Amino acid sequence: MTPASSFDEWMKAVQAHVEEALGAFLPAAGTVPHKLHEAMRYTALGGGKRVRPLLAFAAGALSGASTAALERAAAAVEMIHVYSLVHDDMPCMDDDALRRGKPTVHVAYDEATALLVGDALQAQAFLVLAEGGTVPPARQVAMLRLLAHAGGSAGMCGGQAIDLDSVGIALTLEQLEQMHQLKTGALLRASVVLGALAGGDLGEAQLAALDGYAKAIGLAFQVVDDVLDATADSATLGKTAGKDAAANKPTYVSILGLEQSRVLAEKLRNDAHAALAQFGDKAERLRQLADLIVQRKA
Ligand code: IPE
Ligand code: IPE
Ligand code: MG
Ligand code: MG
Ligand code: MG
Repeated sequence: MTPASSFDEWMKAVQAHVEEALGAFLPAAGTVPHKLHEAMRYTALGGGKRVRPLLAFAAGALSGASTAALERAAAAVEMIHVYSLVHDDMPCMDDDALRRGKPTVHVAYDEATALLVGDALQAQAFLVLAEGGTVPPARQVAMLRLLAHAGGSAGMCGGQAIDLDSVGIALTLEQLEQMHQLKTGALLRASVVLGALAGGDLGEAQLAALDGYAKAIGLAFQVVDDVLDATADSATLGKTAGKDAAANKPTYVSILGLEQSRVLAEKLRNDAHAALAQFGDKAERLRQLADLIVQRKA
């Protein structure tokens, strides 16, 4: 993870590190209740792009965060993300049988287990962030508050509620952007800010710059998710493709069309780069992650 390593090497090293940290922070499969713990590990380990942990580690470079503090921030935000996926896939939400190339939790286990896996992962995330003593207490509370806000009704859950209420409805571009900023953008923003906070308090100008970056990549991420849902195949995505149109959901593709959605993602990538200007070389990984988020194929 030296600054000189290639982006690809850096990414693989962080992903491996996060895999190990998640393995250590999750209860062992042999702990009672076995099925719940096994299912938590089934869904959280061995898959996913780990974009949120990558963002946390990249942002940690701006503030010189320690690895011990970053692995907690990264694992916590990934646990919230995984819980959101488990619930998102349930029959009462998007009803999807495939996630990260494997049967979803309610299919591999059962619906009640999927519900509890989500609940328990959410609680575990806050436990991981609250323990360890890797950052001073006042900043730790700020980090806990940030994650709670991003995951709750003013963040991810709020966005998911709007998503479910919008089936068959022609949202305006403004309403669509608000939904995307909440359901996906909020946790991505939290990943960036948590990573930076893991190393130190942020000045107003720094926070504003990071916010500008995080807003742009947060929205870009879901624009690309909508594009991939309409254009990629399930084997590549590791989740069922074509679900948005089948479920009659308003998306960037349904409102702007494919071409304009791609143009928007590219514009957001430029906005993200512009927002990082003040950080110089220290923000190189964040720039590369903005490129990855927009250019990804899965
Ligand atoms: C999928 O997120 C759900 C959205 C928020 C769009 P990711 O594309 O980051 O899923 P994983 O973590 O790589 O499986
Ligand atoms: C989900 O958005 C966002 C979450 C909070 C999980 P999607 O429903 O579009 O995510 P995918 O396409 O199923 O991964
Ligand atoms: Mg959904
Ligand atoms: Mg879904
Ligand atoms: Mg999607």
